[in-house]
Amino acid sequence: MDDRLITRARNTRARFQQVFSNPPQVVAYGPGRVDLLGSHTDYNEGFVLPVAIDLEVMAAGRKRKDRRIRIWSHNFGKLSAFILDNIESDTKAKWSNYARGVIKCMLDAGYELGGADVLLDGAVPIGSGLSSSAAVEMAVAMLLQSLFDLEIADTELALVGQKAENQFVGINTGIMDQFASRLGKSGHAVFLDCRSLEFELVPMPMEHVRIVVADTMKRRGLVDSEYNLRRGQCEQAVEALKPYAREARALRDITPEQFEENRNILPKALRKRAEHVIYENERVLKARELLRIGDLDGFGNLMNASHDSSRDLYEVSCIELEAMVGAARRVPGVLGSRMAGAGFGGCTVSLVEKDMVEEFQRLVSAEYYEKTGVKPIFYVCTAADGASVLEVRS
Ligand code: GLA
Repeated sequence: MDDRLITRARNTRARFQQVFSNPPQVVAYGPGRVDLLGSHTDYNEGFVLPVAIDLEVMAAGRKRKDRRIRIWSHNFGKLSAFILDNIESDTKAKWSNYARGVIKCMLDAGYELGGADVLLDGAVPIGSGLSSSAAVEMAVAMLLQSLFDLEIADTELALVGQKAENQFVGINTGIMDQFASRLGKSGHAVFLDCRSLEFELVPMPMEHVRIVVADTMKRRGLVDSEYNLRRGQCEQAVEALKPYAREARALRDITPEQFEENRNILPKALRKRAEHVIYENERVLKARELLRIGDLDGFGNLMNASHDSSRDLYEVSCIELEAMVGAARRVPGVLGSRMAGAGFGGCTVSLVEKDMVEEFQRLVSAEYYEKTGVKPIFYVCTAADGASVLEVRS
Protein backbone atom coordinates (compact mmCIF):
# COMPACT_ATOMS: atom_id res chain seq x y z
CA MET A 1 0.00 0.00 0.00
CA ASP A 2 1.42 3.42 -0.83
CA ASP A 3 2.26 6.07 1.78
CA ARG A 4 -0.49 8.39 0.64
CA LEU A 5 -3.18 5.79 1.34
CA ILE A 6 -1.60 4.92 4.68
CA THR A 7 -1.76 8.58 5.71
CA ARG A 8 -5.33 8.94 4.48
CA ALA A 9 -6.39 5.82 6.36
CA ARG A 10 -4.72 7.12 9.53
CA ASN A 11 -6.54 10.46 9.26
CA THR A 12 -9.86 8.79 8.58
CA ARG A 13 -9.36 6.52 11.59
CA ALA A 14 -8.62 9.54 13.81
CA ARG A 15 -11.72 11.33 12.52
CA PHE A 16 -13.85 8.29 13.24
CA GLN A 17 -12.48 8.12 16.79
CA GLN A 18 -13.28 11.78 17.31
CA VAL A 19 -16.87 11.52 16.03
CA PHE A 20 -17.85 8.14 17.49
CA SER A 21 -15.52 8.01 20.56
CA ASN A 22 -14.31 4.54 19.56
CA PRO A 23 -11.80 3.32 16.97
CA PRO A 24 -13.13 1.86 13.69
CA GLN A 25 -12.82 -1.88 13.07
CA VAL A 26 -12.41 -1.53 9.31
CA VAL A 27 -11.13 1.18 6.98
CA ALA A 28 -11.86 0.74 3.27
CA TYR A 29 -11.88 2.98 0.23
CA GLY A 30 -13.39 3.36 -3.22
CA PRO A 31 -11.65 5.44 -5.91
CA GLY A 32 -13.12 7.85 -8.42
CA ARG A 33 -12.63 7.11 -12.10
CA VAL A 34 -11.87 8.89 -15.30
CA ASP A 35 -12.98 7.52 -18.65
CA LEU A 36 -10.23 7.71 -21.23
CA LEU A 37 -12.64 6.61 -23.94
CA GLY A 38 -16.17 5.30 -24.29
CA SER A 39 -18.54 8.24 -24.00
CA HIS A 40 -22.16 7.19 -23.37
CA THR A 41 -21.52 3.69 -24.63
CA ASP A 42 -22.05 1.80 -21.35
CA TYR A 43 -25.85 1.96 -21.27
CA ASN A 44 -25.86 1.05 -24.96
CA GLU A 45 -24.27 -2.27 -23.94
CA GLY A 46 -21.04 -1.25 -25.64
CA PHE A 47 -17.39 -0.83 -24.64
CA VAL A 48 -15.64 1.57 -22.27
CA LEU A 49 -12.07 2.23 -21.25
CA PRO A 50 -11.83 4.00 -17.88
CA VAL A 51 -9.15 4.02 -15.17
CA ALA A 52 -9.63 4.16 -11.41
CA ILE A 53 -7.79 7.25 -10.13
CA ASP A 54 -5.83 8.14 -7.02
CA LEU A 55 -8.62 10.32 -5.61
CA GLU A 56 -10.80 8.25 -3.35
CA VAL A 57 -13.50 8.12 -0.71
CA MET A 58 -12.40 6.51 2.55
CA ALA A 59 -14.99 4.71 4.67
CA ALA A 60 -14.32 3.69 8.27
CA GLY A 61 -16.78 1.61 10.25
CA ARG A 62 -17.57 -0.16 13.48
CA LYS A 63 -20.35 -2.64 14.19
CA ARG A 64 -23.15 -1.70 16.58
CA LYS A 65 -25.22 -4.04 18.74
CA ASP A 66 -28.53 -2.70 17.38
CA ARG A 67 -29.83 -2.33 13.81
CA ARG A 68 -29.07 1.34 13.54
CA ILE A 69 -26.78 2.85 10.91
CA ARG A 70 -25.20 6.22 11.60
CA ILE A 71 -23.20 7.82 8.81
CA TRP A 72 -21.05 10.86 9.44
CA SER A 73 -19.80 12.78 6.42
CA HIS A 74 -16.50 14.48 7.11
CA ASN A 75 -16.96 16.60 3.96
CA PHE A 76 -20.43 17.87 4.84
CA GLY A 77 -19.89 17.84 8.62
CA LYS A 78 -23.25 16.12 9.03
CA LEU A 79 -24.79 12.94 10.40
CA SER A 80 -27.51 10.87 8.76
CA ALA A 81 -29.03 7.97 10.70
CA PHE A 82 -31.60 5.25 10.01
CA ILE A 83 -32.74 1.76 10.98
CA LEU A 84 -31.80 -1.12 8.68
CA ASP A 85 -35.42 -2.28 8.44
CA ASN A 86 -36.65 1.05 7.13
CA ILE A 87 -34.29 2.65 4.65
CA GLU A 88 -35.65 5.66 2.86
CA SER A 89 -33.91 8.40 0.96
CA ASP A 90 -32.96 11.44 3.01
CA THR A 91 -33.92 14.62 1.21
CA LYS A 92 -32.08 16.76 3.77
CA ALA A 93 -28.82 14.81 3.46
CA LYS A 94 -28.76 13.82 -0.19
CA TRP A 95 -25.09 12.86 0.11
CA SER A 96 -26.17 9.93 2.32
CA ASN A 97 -28.42 8.40 -0.33
CA TYR A 98 -25.58 6.65 -2.15
CA ALA A 99 -24.67 4.81 1.06
CA ARG A 100 -28.32 4.22 1.97
CA GLY A 101 -28.94 2.81 -1.52
CA VAL A 102 -26.00 0.42 -1.33
CA ILE A 103 -27.10 -0.85 2.08
CA LYS A 104 -30.67 -1.31 0.90
CA CYS A 105 -29.54 -3.15 -2.25
CA MET A 106 -27.22 -5.41 -0.23
CA LEU A 107 -30.11 -6.31 2.08
CA ASP A 108 -32.46 -6.85 -0.88
CA ALA A 109 -29.88 -9.19 -2.41
CA GLY A 110 -30.02 -11.28 0.78
CA TYR A 111 -26.77 -10.23 2.44
CA GLU A 112 -27.05 -10.08 6.22
CA LEU A 113 -26.01 -6.80 7.74
CA GLY A 114 -26.20 -5.43 11.26
CA GLY A 115 -26.03 -1.90 12.61
CA ALA A 116 -22.87 0.15 12.18
CA ASP A 117 -21.30 3.54 12.67
CA VAL A 118 -19.71 4.75 9.45
CA LEU A 119 -17.55 7.74 8.62
CA LEU A 120 -17.07 8.91 5.03
CA ASP A 121 -14.07 11.02 4.13
CA GLY A 122 -13.98 11.90 0.45
CA ALA A 123 -11.28 13.36 -1.79
CA VAL A 124 -13.15 12.99 -5.09
CA PRO A 125 -14.55 16.36 -6.13
CA ILE A 126 -18.35 16.22 -6.12
CA GLY A 127 -20.39 16.76 -9.30
CA SER A 128 -17.34 17.04 -11.51
CA GLY A 129 -17.65 13.87 -13.56
CA LEU A 130 -15.09 11.81 -11.63
CA SER A 131 -17.76 9.64 -10.06
CA SER A 132 -17.66 10.56 -6.43
CA SER A 133 -20.95 8.66 -6.20
CA ALA A 134 -19.48 5.35 -7.39
CA ALA A 135 -16.52 5.96 -5.06
CA VAL A 136 -18.90 6.29 -2.08
CA GLU A 137 -20.89 3.26 -3.17
CA MET A 138 -17.84 1.04 -3.55
CA ALA A 139 -16.20 2.32 -0.34
CA VAL A 140 -19.35 1.58 1.67
CA ALA A 141 -19.88 -1.81 0.02
CA MET A 142 -16.28 -2.86 0.69
CA LEU A 143 -16.53 -1.66 4.28
CA LEU A 144 -19.73 -3.60 4.98
CA GLN A 145 -18.49 -6.67 3.17
CA SER A 146 -15.52 -6.78 5.53
CA LEU A 147 -17.38 -5.74 8.72
CA PHE A 148 -20.01 -8.46 8.26
CA ASP A 149 -17.78 -11.16 6.76
CA LEU A 150 -19.61 -11.35 3.45
CA GLU A 151 -18.23 -12.82 0.29
CA ILE A 152 -19.36 -10.82 -2.69
CA ALA A 153 -17.76 -11.20 -6.12
CA ASP A 154 -16.20 -8.02 -7.52
CA THR A 155 -18.61 -7.77 -10.43
CA GLU A 156 -21.56 -8.40 -8.14
CA LEU A 157 -20.44 -5.56 -5.89
CA ALA A 158 -20.23 -3.18 -8.85
CA LEU A 159 -23.75 -4.22 -9.89
CA VAL A 160 -25.05 -3.57 -6.37
CA GLY A 161 -23.61 -0.05 -6.62
CA GLN A 162 -25.22 0.55 -10.00
CA LYS A 163 -28.55 -0.73 -8.71
CA ALA A 164 -28.32 1.63 -5.74
CA GLU A 165 -27.76 4.53 -8.10
CA ASN A 166 -30.50 3.48 -10.57
CA GLN A 167 -33.20 2.37 -8.17
CA PHE A 168 -32.54 4.28 -4.97
CA VAL A 169 -30.90 7.54 -6.01
CA GLY A 170 -32.90 7.52 -9.25
CA ILE A 171 -30.19 8.16 -11.82
CA ASN A 172 -30.26 5.78 -14.74
CA THR A 173 -26.49 5.44 -15.18
CA GLY A 174 -24.59 2.56 -16.79
CA ILE A 175 -22.11 0.21 -15.14
CA MET A 176 -18.85 1.95 -16.08
CA ASP A 177 -18.29 3.97 -12.92
CA GLN A 178 -18.87 1.29 -10.30
CA PHE A 179 -16.98 -1.27 -12.35
CA ALA A 180 -13.92 0.96 -12.73
CA SER A 181 -14.06 1.93 -9.06
CA ARG A 182 -14.21 -1.72 -7.99
CA LEU A 183 -11.98 -3.42 -10.57
CA GLY A 184 -9.43 -0.77 -11.56
CA LYS A 185 -5.79 -1.72 -11.29
CA SER A 186 -2.74 0.39 -10.74
CA GLY A 187 -0.99 1.16 -14.06
CA HIS A 188 -3.85 -0.29 -16.09
CA ALA A 189 -6.92 0.85 -17.97
CA VAL A 190 -10.05 -1.26 -17.65
CA PHE A 191 -11.43 -2.38 -21.01
CA LEU A 192 -15.00 -3.44 -20.28
CA ASP A 193 -17.67 -5.06 -22.38
CA CYS A 194 -20.72 -3.56 -20.70
CA ARG A 195 -23.00 -6.33 -21.96
CA SER A 196 -21.13 -9.43 -20.85
CA LEU A 197 -19.12 -7.64 -18.13
CA GLU A 198 -16.04 -9.41 -19.44
CA PHE A 199 -13.08 -7.16 -18.95
CA GLU A 200 -9.39 -6.85 -19.63
CA LEU A 201 -6.84 -4.88 -17.64
CA VAL A 202 -4.75 -3.21 -20.31
CA PRO A 203 -1.34 -1.91 -19.17
CA MET A 204 -0.95 1.84 -19.72
CA PRO A 205 2.52 2.67 -21.08
CA MET A 206 2.93 5.71 -18.83
CA GLU A 207 6.73 6.21 -18.66
CA HIS A 208 6.55 9.47 -20.62
CA VAL A 209 2.98 10.71 -20.19
CA ARG A 210 0.57 11.68 -17.44
CA ILE A 211 -3.22 11.69 -17.14
CA VAL A 212 -4.20 15.26 -16.32
CA VAL A 213 -7.74 15.96 -15.22
CA ALA A 214 -8.90 19.57 -15.39
CA ASP A 215 -12.01 20.64 -13.50
CA THR A 216 -13.99 23.33 -15.36
CA MET A 217 -15.67 24.08 -11.99
CA LYS A 218 -19.00 24.00 -13.80
CA ARG A 219 -21.10 21.60 -11.76
CA ARG A 220 -23.53 19.34 -13.52
CA GLY A 221 -26.58 17.72 -11.98
CA LEU A 222 -26.96 14.37 -13.71
CA VAL A 223 -30.57 13.91 -12.64
CA ASP A 224 -31.59 17.26 -14.02
CA SER A 225 -29.45 16.94 -17.08
CA GLU A 226 -30.28 15.51 -20.45
CA TYR A 227 -28.81 12.12 -19.58
CA ASN A 228 -32.08 10.20 -19.50
CA LEU A 229 -33.25 11.95 -22.66
CA ARG A 230 -30.14 10.68 -24.49
CA ARG A 231 -30.77 7.16 -23.18
CA GLY A 232 -34.30 7.25 -24.53
CA GLN A 233 -33.13 8.52 -27.92
CA CYS A 234 -30.67 5.63 -28.19
CA GLU A 235 -33.44 3.14 -27.44
CA GLN A 236 -35.65 4.76 -30.07
CA ALA A 237 -32.84 4.57 -32.61
CA VAL A 238 -32.47 0.82 -31.98
CA GLU A 239 -36.22 0.32 -32.46
CA ALA A 240 -36.14 2.24 -35.72
CA LEU A 241 -33.15 0.27 -37.01
CA LYS A 242 -34.48 -3.15 -35.99
CA PRO A 243 -36.11 -3.95 -39.36
CA TYR A 244 -32.62 -3.65 -40.89
CA ALA A 245 -30.70 -5.41 -38.12
CA ARG A 246 -33.11 -7.98 -36.73
CA GLU A 247 -31.02 -9.30 -33.89
CA ALA A 248 -30.19 -5.85 -32.53
CA ARG A 249 -30.99 -5.35 -28.85
CA ALA A 250 -28.91 -2.23 -28.35
CA LEU A 251 -26.87 0.22 -30.44
CA ARG A 252 -23.91 -2.03 -29.68
CA ASP A 253 -25.37 -4.53 -32.15
CA ILE A 254 -25.57 -2.15 -35.10
CA THR A 255 -22.45 -2.29 -37.26
CA PRO A 256 -21.11 0.85 -38.94
CA GLU A 257 -22.08 -0.71 -42.29
CA GLN A 258 -25.68 -1.34 -41.21
CA PHE A 259 -25.84 2.20 -39.89
CA GLU A 260 -24.47 3.79 -43.06
CA GLU A 261 -26.87 1.82 -45.26
CA ASN A 262 -29.88 2.89 -43.25
CA ARG A 263 -28.94 6.19 -41.68
CA ASN A 264 -31.54 8.14 -43.63
CA ILE A 265 -34.46 6.34 -42.08
CA LEU A 266 -33.60 7.94 -38.72
CA PRO A 267 -34.82 11.39 -37.72
CA LYS A 268 -31.91 13.81 -37.36
CA ALA A 269 -31.48 13.73 -33.57
CA LEU A 270 -31.64 9.93 -33.38
CA ARG A 271 -29.25 9.65 -36.33
CA LYS A 272 -26.68 11.79 -34.57
CA ARG A 273 -26.95 9.92 -31.26
CA ALA A 274 -26.68 6.54 -32.98
CA GLU A 275 -23.74 7.63 -35.13
CA HIS A 276 -21.86 8.77 -32.05
CA VAL A 277 -22.41 5.56 -30.10
CA ILE A 278 -21.70 3.19 -33.01
CA TYR A 279 -18.39 4.87 -33.91
CA GLU A 280 -17.43 5.46 -30.27
CA ASN A 281 -17.59 1.70 -29.73
CA GLU A 282 -15.26 1.28 -32.72
CA ARG A 283 -12.89 3.83 -31.19
CA VAL A 284 -12.77 1.98 -27.86
CA LEU A 285 -11.93 -1.29 -29.62
CA LYS A 286 -9.23 0.44 -31.65
CA ALA A 287 -7.89 2.19 -28.54
CA ARG A 288 -7.39 -1.14 -26.80
CA GLU A 289 -5.28 -2.30 -29.75
CA LEU A 290 -3.24 0.90 -29.68
CA LEU A 291 -2.60 0.60 -25.95
CA ARG A 292 -1.43 -2.97 -26.44
CA ILE A 293 1.23 -1.81 -28.91
CA GLY A 294 2.05 1.32 -26.89
CA ASP A 295 0.83 3.81 -29.52
CA LEU A 296 -0.20 6.70 -27.29
CA ASP A 297 -0.18 9.22 -30.13
CA GLY A 298 -2.82 7.20 -31.92
CA PHE A 299 -4.65 6.80 -28.63
CA GLY A 300 -4.65 10.58 -28.11
CA ASN A 301 -6.14 11.10 -31.57
CA LEU A 302 -8.99 8.80 -30.63
CA MET A 303 -9.58 10.82 -27.45
CA ASN A 304 -9.86 13.96 -29.58
CA ALA A 305 -12.23 12.26 -32.00
CA SER A 306 -14.31 10.99 -29.08
CA HIS A 307 -14.69 14.48 -27.68
CA ASP A 308 -15.59 16.02 -31.02
CA SER A 309 -18.23 13.37 -31.59
CA SER A 310 -19.64 13.83 -28.08
CA ARG A 311 -19.94 17.54 -28.85
CA ASP A 312 -21.23 17.46 -32.43
CA LEU A 313 -23.30 14.27 -32.52
CA TYR A 314 -24.20 13.47 -28.92
CA GLU A 315 -24.44 17.17 -28.02
CA VAL A 316 -23.33 16.89 -24.41
CA SER A 317 -20.62 19.57 -24.38
CA CYS A 318 -20.81 23.13 -23.08
CA ILE A 319 -18.88 26.39 -23.33
CA GLU A 320 -16.64 25.52 -20.38
CA LEU A 321 -15.67 22.08 -21.69
CA GLU A 322 -14.91 23.57 -25.11
CA ALA A 323 -12.76 26.30 -23.59
CA MET A 324 -10.80 23.74 -21.57
CA VAL A 325 -10.33 21.19 -24.34
CA GLY A 326 -9.49 23.94 -26.83
CA ALA A 327 -6.82 25.38 -24.52
CA ALA A 328 -5.41 21.92 -23.78
CA ARG A 329 -5.04 20.98 -27.43
CA ARG A 330 -3.02 24.13 -28.11
CA VAL A 331 -0.32 23.08 -25.62
CA PRO A 332 2.64 21.24 -27.15
CA GLY A 333 3.05 17.77 -25.72
CA VAL A 334 -0.70 17.12 -25.42
CA LEU A 335 -1.55 13.82 -27.07
CA GLY A 336 -5.29 14.12 -26.70
CA SER A 337 -7.97 15.86 -24.66
CA ARG A 338 -11.65 15.15 -24.11
CA MET A 339 -14.54 15.61 -21.70
CA ALA A 340 -14.84 13.08 -18.90
CA GLY A 341 -18.04 11.42 -17.73
CA ALA A 342 -21.48 12.49 -18.86
CA GLY A 343 -20.48 15.95 -20.14
CA PHE A 344 -22.45 19.19 -19.56
CA GLY A 345 -19.62 20.47 -17.34
CA GLY A 346 -17.33 18.75 -14.90
CA CYS A 347 -13.84 17.67 -15.90
CA THR A 348 -11.77 17.10 -18.98
CA VAL A 349 -9.05 14.47 -19.26
CA SER A 350 -5.85 14.98 -21.23
CA LEU A 351 -2.84 12.80 -21.95
CA VAL A 352 0.17 15.05 -21.51
CA GLU A 353 3.89 14.42 -21.98
CA LYS A 354 5.43 14.17 -18.54
CA ASP A 355 7.82 17.09 -19.02
CA MET A 356 5.03 19.38 -20.15
CA VAL A 357 2.66 18.82 -17.24
CA GLU A 358 3.56 22.04 -15.38
CA GLU A 359 3.54 24.14 -18.51
CA PHE A 360 0.21 22.54 -19.43
CA GLN A 361 -1.34 23.67 -16.16
CA ARG A 362 0.05 27.18 -16.50
CA LEU A 363 -1.07 27.72 -20.10
CA VAL A 364 -4.46 26.03 -19.82
CA SER A 365 -5.23 27.84 -16.58
CA ALA A 366 -4.41 31.23 -18.12
CA GLU A 367 -6.41 30.65 -21.30
CA TYR A 368 -9.37 29.13 -19.44
CA TYR A 369 -9.43 32.03 -16.99
CA GLU A 370 -9.30 34.54 -19.81
CA LYS A 371 -12.25 32.89 -21.56
CA THR A 372 -14.47 32.12 -18.56
CA GLY A 373 -13.26 34.22 -15.63
CA VAL A 374 -12.90 31.00 -13.61
CA LYS A 375 -9.74 29.37 -12.27
CA PRO A 376 -9.69 25.63 -13.02
CA ILE A 377 -8.30 22.96 -10.72
CA PHE A 378 -5.95 20.27 -12.03
CA TYR A 379 -5.37 16.74 -10.84
CA VAL A 380 -2.37 14.87 -12.18
CA CYS A 381 -3.68 11.33 -11.80
CA THR A 382 -2.29 7.86 -11.94
CA ALA A 383 -4.27 4.78 -12.91
CA ALA A 384 -4.90 3.38 -9.44
CA ASP A 385 -6.16 0.23 -7.77
CA GLY A 386 -9.89 -0.32 -7.36
CA ALA A 387 -11.77 -0.39 -4.05
CA SER A 388 -10.01 -2.23 -1.21
CA VAL A 389 -10.06 -2.85 2.49
CA LEU A 390 -7.04 -1.20 4.10
CA GLU A 391 -7.28 -2.05 7.78
CA VAL A 392 -9.16 -4.57 9.83
CA ARG A 393 -8.99 -4.55 13.65
CA SER A 394 -10.98 -6.54 16.12
C1 GLA B 1 -21.90 9.06 -16.36
C2 GLA B 1 -22.54 7.72 -16.01
C3 GLA B 1 -21.84 6.56 -16.71
C4 GLA B 1 -21.68 6.83 -18.20
C5 GLA B 1 -21.11 8.23 -18.44
C6 GLA B 1 -21.07 8.60 -19.91
O1 GLA B 1 -20.62 9.13 -15.83
O2 GLA B 1 -22.50 7.51 -14.63
O3 GLA B 1 -22.53 5.36 -16.47
O4 GLA B 1 -22.89 6.66 -18.87
O5 GLA B 1 -21.85 9.21 -17.75
O6 GLA B 1 -20.19 7.78 -20.60
